[in-house]
Amino acid sequence: MANILDEFKFSHDAERDRTGKKLKVGIIGCGWIAEAHLKSYQKCPDVEVVAFADLIPGKAQAFAERYGAAEGARFYNSDREMIDAEKDLDAVSVCTYNRQHAPCAIYALDHGVNVLLEKPMCVTLDEAVEICRAEKRSGKVLSIGFQPRFDENMKMVKKIVSSGELGDIYYVQTGGGRRHGIPTPFGTSFIREDTAGLGALGDIGCYSLDMVLNALGYPKPLTVSGYKSGFFGKDPSYLDKPEYAEEFSVDDFAAAFVRLEGGIILDFRISWAMHCDTPGDTIILGKKGGLRIPSTECWNGSIGGPMTVYHNVAGVCVDTKIPECDNDGDNFDKKIRSFCDAVEFGLPAPVPSSQILYNQAIIDGISRSAETGREVEINIPEI
Ligand SMILES: NC(=O)c1ccc[n+]([C@@H]2O[C@H](COP(=O)([O-])OP(=O)(O)OC[C@H]3O[C@@H](n4cnc5c(N)ncnc54)[C@H](O)[C@@H]3O)[C@@H](O)[C@H]2O)c1
Repeated sequence: MANILDEFKFSHDAERDRTGKKLKVGIIGCGWIAEAHLKSYQKCPDVEVVAFADLIPGKAQAFAERYGAAEGARFYNSDREMIDAEKDLDAVSVCTYNRQHAPCAIYALDHGVNVLLEKPMCVTLDEAVEICRAEKRSGKVLSIGFQPRFDENMKMVKKIVSSGELGDIYYVQTGGGRRHGIPTPFGTSFIREDTAGLGALGDIGCYSLDMVLNALGYPKPLTVSGYKSGFFGKDPSYLDKPEYAEEFSVDDFAAAFVRLEGGIILDFRISWAMHCDTPGDTIILGKKGGLRIPSTECWNGSIGGPMTVYHNVAGVCVDTKIPECDNDGDNFDKKIRSFCDAVEFGLPAPVPSSQILYNQAIIDGISRSAETGREVEINIPEI
């Protein structure tokens, strides 16, 4: 499955033209990230964004007007209103805050609509299981919005691990994050339990987990001992807007020790706020070699510099620098284009839920373990 993803081919315009019909797309949740979705859809000649929904009255229309997409479009006050009214919608982008990911995705899939669901997949493992079951019932495409998957340097991480150069992997240290970066640019939806449900752990932790788990072929998680804290977000003097401290009710730091199938250990830490420049580079240790992936100041789907492979050549310690890869095009555009291609041509989901289910299971395990103060088992029910 993983190889299929890496070799995912974007279809050619000529091939697309032959289908004649434009994809009709709706956008659910017209906040910050919806802008990136809309702009990428607007670059697709075979896509028409025909409907917009937001819970806040007037927000959907104002959003569409701002980006020149209002003419001929319809506007709704919820995902359900949109799905019930739009009978020939091919696909939706679910761009709501995390707590609304599961209800919106399940409702759309159950009504025969293909779904591009923003990251993190949702908040709990139970929700992730229900989303996967809805996908299975529907037979529709569900792809999760991890645009770093399309980054050439990220792909190189997977190529290095898959090449066998490192041998069998036994230990991974990953994570990353920010010294001072609790996200509140457009209000408090990222920092409230009732909207986000997860803080740094869900927001940027899901990316770190995906980088290494995708490289390893998504081994099954077995147990986790997790920790979460939120010391900075509750401090009015720390935030750009002191009044947000009262609303802060998620984590701004998380760490975990995870056992994966195959005897692999995953040592994880993630931060929106801490008194340190970085919680460390990502390190992947194998029996034949090791890989260092420099961290970034802020998770944006890129890597902080050239990677290094450490190995022995004829008994001598050798470090090999991996040249940085150039990216041809925008990762967001590729995320949207690949989803549309999957819908249009019946291709597999570019970022399948079957993989991100394990990502969500680890996040859920970290939350449960942090609450109980003990290691917990991860049990993923049959889909
Ligand atoms: N891929 C990325 O790079 C990236 C970047 C930022 C955010 N995100 C993700 O995108 C999601 C949204 O983030 P945001 O910053 O745009 O949030 P936001 O709060 O700015 O916007 C979310 C909007 O969804 C609306 N909404 C909620 N439930 C709805 C429903 N049932 N029907 C219609 N509208 C509904 C809200 O009213 C709000 O306007 C989050 O899950 C976040 O993790 C991804």
